[in-house]
Parts: sequence; structure tokens; C-alpha cells
Amino acid sequence: MEEKIKLLEAEIQGYAFSDADSLETYKRSYTNKKAVINDLVAEFRTLPSEQKRTLGKALNDLKTLANHRLKEGEKAVVAVGRKADQPHDLTLPGDPFRTGARHPLSITMARIIEIFNKIGFSVAEGPEIEDDWHNFTALNFPPNHPARDMQDTFFASKEPDYVLRTHTSPVQIRVMETEEPPSRVLAPGRVYRNEAISARSHCFFHQVEGLVVDEGISFADMKQSLLYFAREMFGDEVKIRLRPSYFPFTEISAEMDISCQICGGKGCNICKYTGWVEIMGCGMVDPNLFINTNIDPERYSGYAFGMGVERIAQLKYRVPDLRLYSQNDIRFLRLFEKV
Ligand code: DAH
Repeated sequence: MEEKIKLLEAEIQGYAFSDADSLETYKRSYTNKKAVINDLVAEFRTLPSEQKRTLGKALNDLKTLANHRLKEGEKAVVAVGRKADQPHDLTLPGDPFRTGARHPLSITMARIIEIFNKIGFSVAEGPEIEDDWHNFTALNFPPNHPARDMQDTFFASKEPDYVLRTHTSPVQIRVMETEEPPSRVLAPGRVYRNEAISARSHCFFHQVEGLVVDEGISFADMKQSLLYFAREMFGDEVKIRLRPSYFPFTEISAEMDISCQICGGKGCNICKYTGWVEIMGCGMVDPNLFINTNIDPERYSGYAFGMGVERIAQLKYRVPDLRLYSQNDIRFLRLFEKV
């Protein structure tokens, strides 16, 4: 046994660490669980105690030496990897670098703006904390209209009433108050409603509002612009349909459906088996809004529309649950890296 120890000691002392492989071989031979030293330890345990006394120290010294040389070896191998005069090997491939992805709602909003830009719309903005006048009164909401109810409006303060805007329509008022017609604006932004959070509803979401005011604007102008939008957004095959509806700020009012992009109009659970999905409200600007903003209703007419960005992104990217948009789940967001 003494001889074996001496032999190993010499081997370990003389071991040449030339590269990473030699380091691995060293570990396998001298320091791993299965290394020869451990065979010696096992053998040692079976020795009579007088021999243990003399050999114990030698065996311990051998282990200490093996570990010490291992440390030296690790340093040496790292140094071989980085040659002293060239610490970084510039020919190695770089680490992959993720640049992140735009959020699907940002992608969708940017696309909507781009489409309307081409037909002369510019972007307007308004505050997310709105006063009652812009969010409701000037938009022709009667004093006791249910939309003013605590149930869907978040109030920031009472008397004077400030609310988290429940839609982007107040930007219409802000534009008409400050601009002489003609106007052609788009107002993208976040809106808030006091609703329980589920796959289908959320307490905040996004809209893009549109407003056109000029002399001689008709319903046909609106329809053609919205058809153009639908085709640019969803492709030439898409069909649109306008259904009569009611909004306080438009007269006449309509809702626009498009042929379902999920099932191609055959019927599925997204379109509730009708083949159509609603994507926006729209209509001719109610003359009361012109009066409220000092625009001559005899001279000017206009149309407006408001669409839900989440819904459009859902149809484009088949997002099954509204909550995905705001959970910051990296697995969801990474799906949009290449979009
Ligand atoms: N503001 C409406 C809503 O949030 C959407 C809307 C409907 C906007 C008709 C419009 C419009 O500009 O003309 O439900």
C-alpha cells in the first residue's frame, strides 16, 4: 500500500494539464468518487490498526495533494483557453442576443395607425383621467345615462367629477374644441371600465377612435373608408356589414362586423356560429357635438368610429384569453418576436 501511495504521488505531481480533456481525465483518475485514491481508502479501512496509524497520514497527504493539483489544473486550463496576449477569441460565435419583441397590442395599434395614415388621418391624444364634460356631457350623454353609472365607470373624484376615461371618444371633443375643421384624426389609447377580469372582459383595454369633420361628409364616405381599413388589416377577402345601432354621440349609428377571420365565416365559437364578428361602433357625428364645440352644424358634417384593439389583435393572432395581454408571460410575448 505504501508503494501504491508513493506511485500515485509521483503521478499526480507530474501530471500535465494541457487542455480541458486532460482536466477531465485527471478528475476521473484522482479526485472523483470512482478514482483510484478511493480504492486505496477502501483498502485502508480493512487494515489492522497499527498499519492504519502510519499509512493514514500518507493517505491524507495524498488526497490533499490531489485536490491542490486539481485547483492548479483548473486555473491552467482556463489560462490555456484565454491566451495571455489575446484574452478573447474573436473568431468564436457570439452569444445569442434576444432583442425582445413588441407587444401584440402595440403591433396592432401601429398597424391601424399606418393604414389610416395612408388616407390622411393624423394622431391625436387625450388624457386618461378625463372630466365629465369630455367623457360624457359633451358627447351628448343624457344626465342619467346608464354608462355614467358607478358600475362601469371608475371615478377619480366626485364634484367635480373626474373619471378614468371609459372610451377614447372624449378625444373627439378635444379635437373639435381646439381645431378648425377639416379634421381627420385617429385617437389610440387605453380606456377603463369597472368590470370583473375574465377571459372576455378586463378593467382596462385599448381603443382607436377615428373622427372626420368637413363639409359634405356622408355615410358613404365612412363606409368606404372602413371597408378600405378592413381589407388592409385582414386581407382583400374580408367582408364587412353595418348594422343599425345606437350611441349618444352619433346619429345615425351603426356597428361594423367583419366576416369571421377564425372560421372564414362558416361559424365557430369566436363568432358564436354567426360567421360575423363585431369590431367597431361608428356613425355620423351627432350635430349636438358640433354645437357643444362651437362648430357650425349647418356647414359641417362628419363621421366617427371606435374600435377595440384587443379584439382586432385576437382575430389577427388568435389570442384565446384577454388576460394574456397584460400578464407579461414571456412565453406569450416571445411569440411576437418575428411579427
Ligand atoms: N365609444 C364607443 C364605445 O366605447 C365606441 C364608438 C361607437 C366610438 C361609435 C365612436 C362611434 O366614435 O362613432 O363603445
